[in-house]
Amino acid sequence: MNESLINRILIVVLYITLFEVETNATCNFGVWGGSCQYNCSSTCYYGNECSSNGGKCGCEQLHGNCYGCAKNYFGDVCNKACNQNCSLSDQCVLSGLACGCERQLGYCNSCPKTLWGNYCDKSCSIRCINFECDRASSQCTSGCTKGYYGSDCSSTCSTSCLYGCDQQTAACFPSYCVNCNGGLPKCDQSNRKCLNGCIDGFYGPSCDKTCSVVTNNTLCTKCQALVSVGITVCTECQPGYHYDGVIGNCKTCSTGCKTNNTNIAKCFPNTGNCRFGCSAGWSGPRCDSFTCSLSNCESCVANQPTVCERCQTGWHLDSGQCVRCSDNCATLNSCDKTSGTCTGGCKTGWYGNKCKDSCITNCNQCDAMV
Ligand SMILES: *[C@@H]1O[C@H](CO)[C@@H](O)[C@H](O)[C@H]1NC(C)=O
Ligand SMILES: *[C@@H]1O[C@H](CO)[C@@H](O)[C@H](O)[C@H]1NC(C)=O
Ligand SMILES: *[C@@H]1O[C@H](CO)[C@@H](O)[C@H](O)[C@H]1NC(C)=O
Ligand SMILES: *[C@@H]1O[C@H](CO)[C@@H](O)[C@H](O)[C@H]1NC(C)=O
Repeated sequence: MNESLINRILIVVLYITLFEVETNATCNFGVWGGSCQYNCSSTCYYGNECSSNGGKCGCEQLHGNCYGCAKNYFGDVCNKACNQNCSLSDQCVLSGLACGCERQLGYCNSCPKTLWGNYCDKSCSIRCINFECDRASSQCTSGCTKGYYGSDCSSTCSTSCLYGCDQQTAACFPSYCVNCNGGLPKCDQSNRKCLNGCIDGFYGPSCDKTCSVVTNNTLCTKCQALVSVGITVCTECQPGYHYDGVIGNCKTCSTGCKTNNTNIAKCFPNTGNCRFGCSAGWSGPRCDSFTCSLSNCESCVANQPTVCERCQTGWHLDSGQCVRCSDNCATLNSCDKTSGTCTGGCKTGWYGNKCKDSCITNCNQCDAMV
């Protein structure tokens, strides 16, 4: 080693020592740096999440690396956004939550069934049934569309196969059992029955019926075969409807669900929970519980939280709101709930239905008894 290299090493060692001494100060939560002069990234993990993380939040003092990232961010200082496709999986969309990605490289935590790759950035082959494939290998998970075979359905069945061919063996399908899960090996050809259920979207013993056919319900888009009892039930309905297990049918989204004026259904198809929250007066996950919250109102006009139908005692209707019975009614708080007419007449010196007119100013002679 020559002298200048040794000198340089010494300088580096000295620098590190000084730097460490300088950073010994303990920074407050949320800031970092030798004199705590920098704010932690705004995408470091904050909020309620901190307390559930043993109070560990903010960022590390020396480099500002976040202890954890806010949902949908990654990288040391959480300044990189996860690929947008990370949150498109059914599970994320239905829960309304961002599913986020892995901290170091940003690999998506979950992918929609129709995309693959670490970043869910590639589409499955259009030859995959339902466009579904394995996230890691891109192999079609629900079989191939008619006429194709192979793990990624890239090969074409022999032209002599009229009903398509088996994904694994390329053997021609007979006219029945085309939709058997597991292909030909799972098809009982003598009874024309599928032995291992159906590929997605098909139902019945021979897997030749769609969900709406097998449930005799055109609104039903997803079904579940209850193998042990031998029936198939609806589990999901067309957009704008949700499946109600109690009535066993598809039901429209609650009128209390807010819309955001797009053609996106206002409730989730499987739970009926409202996607954009509730309109005024409505509450509950499905916004199906209505509360009349107008003051002094006994009951609102059906489903209208701002229009009163019947007022409480001592109040009467006026353009859908409740106003107090006149102070000039002979008996306190006694007026007709609809018209406001004082039911026990007026106090001395007042007249008219609501006893609003004064004898002194408006008339020369007044019947004190009315
Ligand atoms: C840090 O955040 C505070 C409060 O949000 C702000 O007033 C200040 O300017 C920020 N400092 C830097 C260096 O960004
Ligand atoms: C998201 O997935 C689609 C395929 O559906 C793909 O075309 C697109 O490039 C992906 N977006 C990103 C940002 O990777
Ligand atoms: C199917 O539903 C229709 C109308 O909802 C009904 O008229 C018909 O009887 C049903 N068919 C069967 C086989 O249940
Ligand atoms: C409606 O909601 C969807 C999904 O949350 C959103 O992408 C869209 O921007 C919203 N549109 C309006 C007009 O608010």
